[in-house]
Amino acid sequence: MSARVWAMSVEQRQDLIKAAFEGDLEISSGLISSSANVAKKNAYSPYSKFAVGAALLAADGTIYKGVNVENASYGGTICAERTAIVKAVSEGTTSFIALAVTTDVPAAISPCGMCRQVIREFCAQDMPILLVPGDYPKPPGDESEGKPGVTEGGVKETSIAELLPDSFGPEHLELPRTGGRT
Ligand code: THU
Repeated sequence: MSARVWAMSVEQRQDLIKAAFEGDLEISSGLISSSANVAKKNAYSPYSKFAVGAALLAADGTIYKGVNVENASYGGTICAERTAIVKAVSEGTTSFIALAVTTDVPAAISPCGMCRQVIREFCAQDMPILLVPGDYPKPPGDESEGKPGVTEGGVKETSIAELLPDSFGPEHLELPRTGGRT
């Protein structure tokens, strides 16, 4: 189950954003000097040319990174968010504090519908999801300032409750059923 307390320090927040940009994480504090050229460097996106990086902060402080991994069949493509979640879960980690997602687009880009459902499976409804613009950090006075959920550097902070309202989740499978099926 997900951790219920969002005890994310400023440093962890920066590390998470940094991890979403880079394939290799070097834990350090301070702002990211972002460059779209080095961002999401392990993304495998030869077909869409749309590189995505995700970083998932676990309750024990570990950051699991993911990129989109495309496939010549197209349908076999795995998104960055799901890569990160599957990496963590397959290593035995299912308790998470925050998720950061970034692309090469200079705007906060939101997870696809399938990723939202997978996030819903493992993350609490109000867990912070940071949508990081590809040109992070945006300068003060940027047009994104003042838009709903937009915080420092143009990062849009949201949650799965916002992204996937009235969602279906594991707890619904525990409900008593009517009818005779066993
Ligand atoms: N993509 C992600 O990695 N995450 C999302 O939530 C949206 C889409 C990837 C899949 C594909 O490789 C490319 O972006 C274009 O759809």
